[in-house]
Amino acid sequence: MTHALGIDIGGTGIKGAVVDTLGGTLLTDRRKLLTPAGGEPRPMIDTAVELVAGIPGAQEPMPVGIAFPTIVKRGRTLSAGNISSAWIGLDGQAMFAAALGRPVLLVNDADAAGYAELHFGAAKDVPGLVILTTLGTGIGSAFIYDGVLVPNTEFGFLEIDGEIAEARASYRAKEQDELDWEQWAKRLQRFYTHLERVFSPDLFIVGGGVSKHADEFLPLLRLSTPIVTATHRNNAGILGAAAIAAAAIAGAAPAERRPG
Ligand code: BGC
Repeated sequence: MTHALGIDIGGTGIKGAVVDTLGGTLLTDRRKLLTPAGGEPRPMIDTAVELVAGIPGAQEPMPVGIAFPTIVKRGRTLSAGNISSAWIGLDGQAMFAAALGRPVLLVNDADAAGYAELHFGAAKDVPGLVILTTLGTGIGSAFIYDGVLVPNTEFGFLEIDGEIAEARASYRAKEQDELDWEQWAKRLQRFYTHLERVFSPDLFIVGGGVSKHADEFLPLLRLSTPIVTATHRNNAGILGAAAIAAAAIAGAAPAERRPG
């Protein structure tokens, strides 16, 4: 099975497309709806159903993967960085499956992006330790060692200088605090220097919508680790969620590669 439906649910938008999971490309236009304010379970699930109804061909039988902005373990949503705390402890996977009327695989959004970059992008064939971070409403992370994804790292929640990293260094923090690129880069420098000191990675990958402006801030960072933008930028979550779901159904993904 090479077609799968990928849905990427974030703090601000819910996006989806049908994906070719062998080639790592979108087979339909990407459809996007706004995440309902407050990020409550029912309105978010209803929006995902509405989204899928508008994607051509998405009703055909195919694996469905959903990237979600929380810790996800065995289908349960165990945190709520930027959505309603009502999600904590729910079987989010079962709830999406019931609403969509088909099985789904729910995974952390940054892990989905990491999986996409591992198979179709900047982390492909990179030996050693790759750390992907998504800079958006929050900061998500994916931790990949020699091609194996270790799920549910939450490096955005590292406490640095007495503050949660994502509260200072996410793209939302840049906008809220009206920082220019230099001011924001100073906060990113502190974050990536800390990751470098603790993990000695071989490569950093930067994802999230702001990575399209990478020229404004990546050259300002002084790191010993190479740092590059995600190949798939804003589509990495969709591609990765679809690919993980397809691999899980085909039984092709060893358990340790299957986030959640
Ligand atoms: C969440 C992570 C998520 C990231 C990006 C953080 O607030 O804790 O699980 O990956 O935002 O959406």
